[in-house]
Amino acid sequence: MKGKFITFEGCEGVGKSRQIHLLEEYLKKNGIKYFLTREPGGTCVSEQIRNVILDGKNVEMTDECEALLYAAARVQLLKEEIAPRLARGELVLCDRYVDSSLAYQGYARGLGVDFVEKINDYAIKNFMPDYTLFLNLPPEQAFKRKGGVDKTDRLELSGIEFHDKVYNGYLSLAQKYQNRFIVIDASGEKEQTHAKIICALKEKGVL
Ligand code: TYD
Repeated sequence: MKGKFITFEGCEGVGKSRQIHLLEEYLKKNGIKYFLTREPGGTCVSEQIRNVILDGKNVEMTDECEALLYAAARVQLLKEEIAPRLARGELVLCDRYVDSSLAYQGYARGLGVDFVEKINDYAIKNFMPDYTLFLNLPPEQAFKRKGGVDKTDRLELSGIEFHDKVYNGYLSLAQKYQNRFIVIDASGEKEQTHAKIICALKEKGVL
């Protein structure tokens, strides 16, 4: 039996981590078994790649190098952790996945969706999520709520124009992959957003 693979996407500061935490509490309370991981990271090798990608000192990193490193971290996580669990019928939750690469590297860095899809096709061999929860909140509102930018994070330092491009990229992806994307309005209180997530996952038969 194949398990269910759910990913979480959104711009910086939309409250993704908090929502994942609330969902975990819900799953525990209801005795639903799950495995949670994150990208980039989730395995020993992938966490080391993560440190290289996000290190604010790596200013000379090319966009192509960045995209390939994300794909490398992804395939390691997929083979080591995600694929075996899905094969055993488990529920797998992942904080970011290939749509982050499409939005950040494909749209915002300007590498193009085709290039990013191509390297990821190679890395993940059509291992796509069943559903992708996109927490929808424009970057300006998200950074305001978050209380500013994390100055040690290379990606957060990229400027509002970059994050607007990421956001618009996500909106295009949500349009293109309507069957997979679940767009969640994340502008309200955290409990309201949580309720919307639970409702959507129930509707799709995941919960
Ligand atoms: P992280 O601190 O985990 O951010 P968040 O809490 O917002 O998920 O850092 C991950 C950063 O990496 C984030 O800025 C998004 C970016 N990213 C990409 O640019 N491409 C990718 O493929 C992935 C997985 C993440």
